Amino acid sequence: MQALAAAGVSWPVLAASVAVALLVAAVVLRLFSGAGKARLPAGTLGWPLVGETLAFISAAYSSRPESFVEKRCLRYGKVFKSHLWGSPAVVSADAEASRAVLQSDASAFVPWYPRSLMELMGESSILMLGGGLQRRVHGLAGAFFKSPELKARVTDDMQGRLSAAMDAWRAAAADAAAVRVQDEAKSIVFEILVRALIGLEQGQEMNYLRQQFRIFIAGLISLPIKLPGTQLYRSLKAKKRMTSLIQKIIQEKRRRIFEGKDPCTASRDLIDVLMSNGSDELISDNMIDFMIPAEDSVPVLITLAIKYLSECPLALQQLEEENMELKRQKSDMRETLEWTDYMSLTFTQHVITETLRIGNIISGIMRKAVRDVEVKGHGGVVIPKGWCVLVYFRSVHLDAAVYNDPYAFNPWRWKERDMVATTSGFTPFGGGQRLCPGLDMARLQASIFLHHLVTNFRWVAEGDNVVNFPTVRLKRGMPIRVTPKT
Ligand code: HEM
Repeated sequence: MQALAAAGVSWPVLAASVAVALLVAAVVLRLFSGAGKARLPAGTLGWPLVGETLAFISAAYSSRPESFVEKRCLRYGKVFKSHLWGSPAVVSADAEASRAVLQSDASAFVPWYPRSLMELMGESSILMLGGGLQRRVHGLAGAFFKSPELKARVTDDMQGRLSAAMDAWRAAAADAAAVRVQDEAKSIVFEILVRALIGLEQGQEMNYLRQQFRIFIAGLISLPIKLPGTQLYRSLKAKKRMTSLIQKIIQEKRRRIFEGKDPCTASRDLIDVLMSNGSDELISDNMIDFMIPAEDSVPVLITLAIKYLSECPLALQQLEEENMELKRQKSDMRETLEWTDYMSLTFTQHVITETLRIGNIISGIMRKAVRDVEVKGHGGVVIPKGWCVLVYFRSVHLDAAVYNDPYAFNPWRWKERDMVATTSGFTPFGGGQRLCPGLDMARLQASIFLHHLVTNFRWVAEGDNVVNFPTVRLKRGMPIRVTPKT
């Protein structure tokens, strides 16, 4: 520098020359690199073979599961490359890019999950199907779950089942024993949804199915080794036992129709709906898929809502007032509660929406690119053919650029926001062609549970923590001490 100064080159002239040189370099780079066009995002593929999977899992087990993505977003931006579950991957924490992936069809992406999960789901599972067959099963299941008849039946079943459960909670209160919300929600929702799916009533077979289902679900994210003694092996065996029970039910239905003993053509359960549209294997695989939200997603939604309400007295009070008011109105008119009543509780729905946002029961979805796919958002990126993409809902739901004070449980924020489930910043139920067909059902069941709990009991929650991996749940099952309201 001193030499340049000595040679008579002044600072402003030097600075201007450097700026011009940088500008020329940038233009040249732009011309030759094709910049401005979509490109592979920045990031690292991590270690050979394992890539960054271990770092992802270790963050997922921590109290801040999004830290893996957060750190890389700071370094590389909201869409970055990585290597997860044995595949090179693009991870999206960007609302626009995520939306573009969700909206794409099977000509761009096919479902792709860790090997253990794909193995357990099976080829005919709706989660693995693509193209016309996925659309057909999705359409039939969606129409079934959205039908007012099913919602009315589920509401009746749930009211009956809750009334029996509440007797047990009163007895627990008298014994000063805790009620574990998660266990209660699981057994109630499982029984009701399984009845809607396969027509099975409470009893020995239901208990057997649930026991096998728990073994099955434990292997969804496990080592992909199918040897005796491994979790995957046990889970596959449990699936086989469930499949034979479900196929027995299907064959019995077919026999009754054949013998003319069941002339009724109205669909009572989802098997009835699918029976003329698919093989027994397709039906039984899908019935097992549909049990996942029954044992897991919906009960966890209920449990998390009760946890967040217990920590936010103002929200609990407003929810209680809204539900007590409905109960009073209905009892004045000597009417029973219909499913439409539960769904019309505006603040209760805001509480459920906020629980879905902050709880991230499904933290993201995965796909594999079947060709090089250009995705809008984040300046345009390319997902190369054969790479997987992780659309990480959790980071978007907790992004301060999308939600004010994102870690605060604030159901009131939904008063002003557009609540449509397909809004790009809010995708707890996914989006596009695979938008969850059970989303109304999940909201309905959560509303019914909350209504009966808050109108019949007060409670004090014991301490508990959320575990986020491999699935979201409360470590101690959310124990609460209830006191019946007089
Ligand atoms: C809180 C509750 C629930 C959550 C958070 C949830 C979330 C999701 C998400 C994120 C997807 C998209 C998966 C993808 O794009 O690959 C999905 C799909 C699906 N959900 Fe749900 N779900 C819930 C409840 C339910 C219920 C109650 C049912 C019905 C019993 C259900 C049935 C399905 C089915 C069949 C699919 C696959 C759709 C397809 O691939 O075409 N879900 N769900």
